[in-house]
Amino acid sequence: YVSPELDKNSLSIIDSFAQNLNAISGFQTTSQPLEGTEALPKKNIVFEANKDIVPEGYELSIQPDAVIIQASDRSGIFYAIQTLKQLLPTAIYGDQPTSDAQWTLPCMEIKDAPRFGYRGLHIDVARHFFPKEEMKKILDLMALHKQNTLHWHLTDDQGWRIEIKKYPRLTEIGSIRNKTMIKYAEERCINIIPEVDLPGHMMAALAAYPDLGCTGGPYEVSGQWGVRDDVLCPGKEKTFTFIEDVLTEVMELFPSEYIHIGGDECPKVRWEKCPKCQARIKAERLKANDKHKAEFFLQSYVTARVEKFLNDHGRKIIGWDEILEGELAPNATVMSWRGMDGGIEAARLKHPVIMTPNNYVYLDYYPTMNTQDEPLAIGGYNPVEKVYSLEPVPASLNEEERKYIIGAQGNLWT
Ligand code: ACM
Ligand code: ZN
Repeated sequence: YVSPELDKNSLSIIDSFAQNLNAISGFQTTSQPLEGTEALPKKNIVFEANKDIVPEGYELSIQPDAVIIQASDRSGIFYAIQTLKQLLPTAIYGDQPTSDAQWTLPCMEIKDAPRFGYRGLHIDVARHFFPKEEMKKILDLMALHKQNTLHWHLTDDQGWRIEIKKYPRLTEIGSIRNKTMIKYAEERCINIIPEVDLPGHMMAALAAYPDLGCTGGPYEVSGQWGVRDDVLCPGKEKTFTFIEDVLTEVMELFPSEYIHIGGDECPKVRWEKCPKCQARIKAERLKANDKHKAEFFLQSYVTARVEKFLNDHGRKIIGWDEILEGELAPNATVMSWRGMDGGIEAARLKHPVIMTPNNYVYLDYYPTMNTQDEPLAIGGYNPVEKVYSLEPVPASLNEEERKYIIGAQGNLWT
């Protein structure tokens, strides 16, 4: 039974749960409106709107006669259903009807709400291509863990995985484009943040469009992990035309308020020798300071210019913590990956921070010391206990600064 005060989106979530339950258990449940104030129907699941519950929160009461679920938004309804599924026989996660499961629930009261609004998983499809079915599985697992943001690392040295109509050669390297997959995420209360990593980690694009580099190439799509000296040339205007064209098409595909523009691991050696880059440094009056050479401020110039372009289109940027080097772009959110220091610095500068410290939540690290029995990983050691022990809010921040830590994320590089 569904209270009419719940919106249409909640209704479709409840309907899919009913279909899911019916398909596995053989029940024939349907969703029906809950009318008036008469006594709650017995032996049923009742979904009610409760404006006093915070966004994404829910209350679940399992009583001998009925299950009562309350929330103020569709995410809350969705997460209550996730909890209910966790309490049901595991067959509920499969796609096969079963007759030998016990469809009972233990009586209990749960009041649940997230501590952070941003609960992310990063997935790198540049190094390893994930087909659509695999991505859907990842979204299902995220939903099970009540994670609400997928950070999709779409481009890197080892491959460009998003079709850009204006630059068709990018797709010769490999592409994915699937609008229905975005909807699949939306139905699971997951926002997708696309990442185009710039100005470094661009070998795949340089191999397709060598003009975008300082030396003009030739370049090859990288066959190995690591950081490459060849990056985009910010001395050339055509580089910015390329970035803006790509981001325009990315914005058409992804409604996300945030776009991740990367910014990590961008060596400056080509820029130091490139006449066009040096001319840009001069024209923009970029100067070294006691911490950073002028070329670091050239990267800040790129980030700020891309931020302005995206802000003008109603979007916001997220960048890896290297965007703190030189000068931080005015409205940027910082993703702290080299430990938590970058996040601490950004919070003190009053910028939003997402904590993804490599020594806790890099999911491409080994989960065990017995690495010989494991699939190939990048190295490191992050066992499950360590991952779960992450406290995203550093004790060294004061109360005001702590508000800038908006969440945490596990990063699955491939
Ligand atoms: C990163 O791991 N290079 C952000
Ligand atoms: Zn250059």
